[in-house]
Parts: sequence; C-alpha cells; structure tokens
Amino acid sequence: MNRRDFLATTALTSAAVATGIVTMAMTEQPATYKRPVIICKATGVQGMDAAYDMLRNGQDTLDAVLHVCKVQEDDPNDDSVGLGGLPNEDGVVELDACCMHGPTRRAGSVGGVRNIKNVGLLAKAVMEHTGHVMLVAEGAERFATAMGFSKENLLTERSRKIWLLWKETHSDKDWWGPGVADPNWKPPVQAPRSRSVPQSGKDLEARIRDLEPVAAELGIEPEFRREAIYRVLFPPTGTIHVSAVNEKGEMSGATTTSGLAWKLAGRLGDSPIIGAGCYTDQDVGSAGATGSGEENIKVAGAHTIVENMRKGMPPKEAGMDALQRIAHNHNNDMAHLRYLDMVYYILRKDGAYAGVALWGGSAEHPRSFAVHDGTKRVEKCAYLFEGTSIDWPPTPRLPETAK
Ligand code: GLY
Repeated sequence: MNRRDFLATTALTSAAVATGIVTMAMTEQPATYKRPVIICKATGVQGMDAAYDMLRNGQDTLDAVLHVCKVQEDDPNDDSVGLGGLPNEDGVVELDACCMHGPTRRAGSVGGVRNIKNVGLLAKAVMEHTGHVMLVAEGAERFATAMGFSKENLLTERSRKIWLLWKETHSDKDWWGPGVADPNWKPPVQAPRSRSVPQSGKDLEARIRDLEPVAAELGIEPEFRREAIYRVLFPPTGTIHVSAVNEKGEMSGATTTSGLAWKLAGRLGDSPIIGAGCYTDQDVGSAGATGSGEENIKVAGAHTIVENMRKGMPPKEAGMDALQRIAHNHNNDMAHLRYLDMVYYILRKDGAYAGVALWGGSAEHPRSFAVHDGTKRVEKCAYLFEGTSIDWPPTPRLPETAK
C-alpha cells in the first residue's frame, strides 16, 4: 500500500470509528496502474486508439471515455447509439446517457433526449454546468441548445426504413405488457428463436426470404437488406459502455444508447441510471452494462459490481454475482431467463478487468468486449449460461401479404 492509500484507509477507519458506522474494509489492491486501460463494448473499437492516446497524453479519463462514445454516436451506421439509432415505436429516436468522473466524484445523466446526438457529452455538461445530476426529455433538449449543442433529425433514412419494415410486420406481441417479469407472462407457444443464431437455419431463411420483397418495396438498399431484416427479427438493445483508468489510477465511466429498438415513447432503460448503466468509484473501480435495461435496473448492476469489488471480489466474480441476482429475480426459471440478455464491463482501479455475460453466445458469435491496455483487442466474456438468449418481444408475425 502506498502512503496515499494508507492515509486514505486510515482516515476511513477513523471516520468509521468516530461515527460508529461499520464500514466494510476495502481489500488492498496493489497499485499496478502503470499504464492506462480502457474497456468497452466490442462495437466501440473505432474510437479506442485515439482515446488511449488521450490518456497517454495526460487528458482526462472522462474525456477519453466520452471520445469512444462520441465516435459511435456520430456514426450513422451504428444504429444502437446517437445519430441513426433505432427509434421508438413512434419512429422517434430518444437517447439516454450517463457518466461518472472518478477524480471529482461527480455524475451527470440525460434521458429521453430527442434531436441531440452526443448525449454522452450532454450528460457531462449536466454534471459540469448544473447543480443537478439528471435532466430528461424536453428540459434536457432545451439545456442542450443553451449549451450550444446543435439539433438535428437523428432518424437516418436507413433507420427510418428499418422502422417502417418493423411497422409493416409487427404483431400484438410488442413492448406493451405483460413483460417477462410479469407473474402472468408466459413464453410464446411458438418454437423459440435464438437471438444470435437461428435454431433452425431453414426456418429463418424462409422468414428472411418472405421479408425481402417488403424491404425492397420500402427502398432498403440490397446490400443492407439482410441486416435490416435481422434488426426487425431480433430487435437490438444497442448501447455502449466505456470505463477507463489512467497511469495515475484516475477513473471514469460513461454509457450511451438509443435504448431498445421499438420501445414505448418515454421509456428509460438502465443506461441513464447512475448505479445501473454505469457506476464509477475512484477508490475501487468502474462498471457498466449493455443488455436488458429493465433487469439491470432492478439489481443496480454497475453499483452492485463496484460494491462487490470493494468487498474484495475480483472483477469477474463481482460481475457474476450481479448476473446471479438477475437470475434470482426470476427464481432461476430458465423459461424466463432465456428471454433476457446482459453484459457487464468491469474495470478495477489497479487495471484488472472482466467482461461477463448472462449468455455465452454461440461458437460463431461469442459474447465479447473490447479492451485496450496498449494493445487493442476483443476478448470473450465469461458467462453464466451456455448458449444464446432468445429474442423478446417474439419475432413479429409476417403480414399475410408477405407470406
Ligand atoms: N441497456 C440499454 C437499454 O435497455 O436501454
């Protein structure tokens, strides 16, 4: 333990004794943060090299993680965040984001924001320029305009056409209740379809073939048609989380998303919720989530993981415990759990990291995460259950005309 950590621990212990509060002793971690580490969702790889250089050049850890977010938010072809994010059921893109700055122990968050693509930076602006932590909807948009963020229509032609394709094919099985957590919820009678890999390739191929003429009629480019159909058949949860630590052991985390595709207007997931979508504690570590937001909110996933690490659990174990809490909330009933999806990205202050997933994915598409510690790479997640989750809401029925 170095002198600073020793003083901090001594001060904590003295304060605990003075107030009579029993504080869980923080496990001493060796201060091995000799080089920066960034961890994020695998889709964030584009911005990682520049973010890593920012850390090397002494720039703030929050600016580095928000750079990774911004690159994806600016990319119209990433339909999980920012510009081109898949819209809600009304065809309107609503974005959520939050961030935490370890060194100053501050947080910012925005939810249900329309027309502003860089919501990660907007969350930071809330943190820096208001006395609040969270702004939502119209108020957040007005604040963004006041702060000089430019407004634009976030629904790209491509996302609009995928939304139309969904509208053309969507059934009464959608985000209207009952949800998977409802006691009256029952798995669909139809044979389930895997989210990542079709259980029956033949069946899926037939459904794709059926949708192709509909997609063509809507003007979806031939080279993008299959991908668009996949978005309709397997609605994505999107989202990027990024956590980073620099050479001095300073940490930050941020999460940005367009949320669930085809969600109800006004729905907020876990991404803007400090403690669920992202949590950073300068003394311990940082964690964030992508996946079933409703489930993650109920276990305060990112906070749970950081608290687990504070008690001495290594990153992987800390994340597995949060996943087990999700399973416990469903009485470990696999008929429910197969419809859920969750990945946690975990970084401890000493640079130790883990990516953990509820489902391991298939051999062809294992659940993975990106990490940069001088070498940028994608690694497989540790996981709770073998196999793939199933899409929920269920795959829409094809319209009679498309059959
Ligand atoms: N985890 C992203 C969402 O549920 O909105």
